[in-house]
Amino acid sequence: MALDLTKYIASIPDYPEKGIVFRDISPLMADGEAYKQATARIVQFAHDKKVEMIVGPEARGFIVGCPVAYELGVGFAPARKKGKLPRETVEAKYALEYGTSALYMHKDAVRPGQRVLVTDDLLATGGTIGATIDLVEQLGGIVVGCAFIIELDALNGRDKIKDYDILSLMNY
Ligand code: PRP
Ligand code: HPA
Repeated sequence: MALDLTKYIASIPDYPEKGIVFRDISPLMADGEAYKQATARIVQFAHDKKVEMIVGPEARGFIVGCPVAYELGVGFAPARKKGKLPRETVEAKYALEYGTSALYMHKDAVRPGQRVLVTDDLLATGGTIGATIDLVEQLGGIVVGCAFIIELDALNGRDKIKDYDILSLMNY
């Protein structure tokens, strides 16, 4: 039976600062059936896209992407924060509320022409997923879709990735 996955999201008022309601996926991950059903819905979305590789940003993109990769029988490549990858990398900068940050991938993590699904737990402003897509495309990969557990509608992240096929399992 299909679970109502919204029941497995914790909403924490005033975290990390006053006025923000933080949406936390850890109860969903902690429940085997809920985690399995969330993964299955993303696998279903990937089904007719001929996905050859999953890419997810540190850290929660790994939690969403790795079981999807396992189910599809394809590989997973991480987009990591500064100083974490030991070999030659490509870089994509993105805007934070104050200042900028950057993500990195190994230069050989995606092959030119490879069909990639990008995954993360949550779409907020779209900065993180935008940088992840940028990295995949710098390597010549083709982004065939973006999948999230949660989308925060008010932050309009979707506008930054409007040219891509997007799946969000739930919206707030
Ligand atoms: C959070 C979240 C997404 C991103 C969404 O990650 O897991 O990756 O922010 O926000 P955006 O759409 O405005 O970019 P965070 O940067 O907190 O990193 P973490 O997963 O390592 O905690
Ligand atoms: N939850 C988790 N990560 C986030 C959030 C949130 O509500 N907003 C921005 N990143």
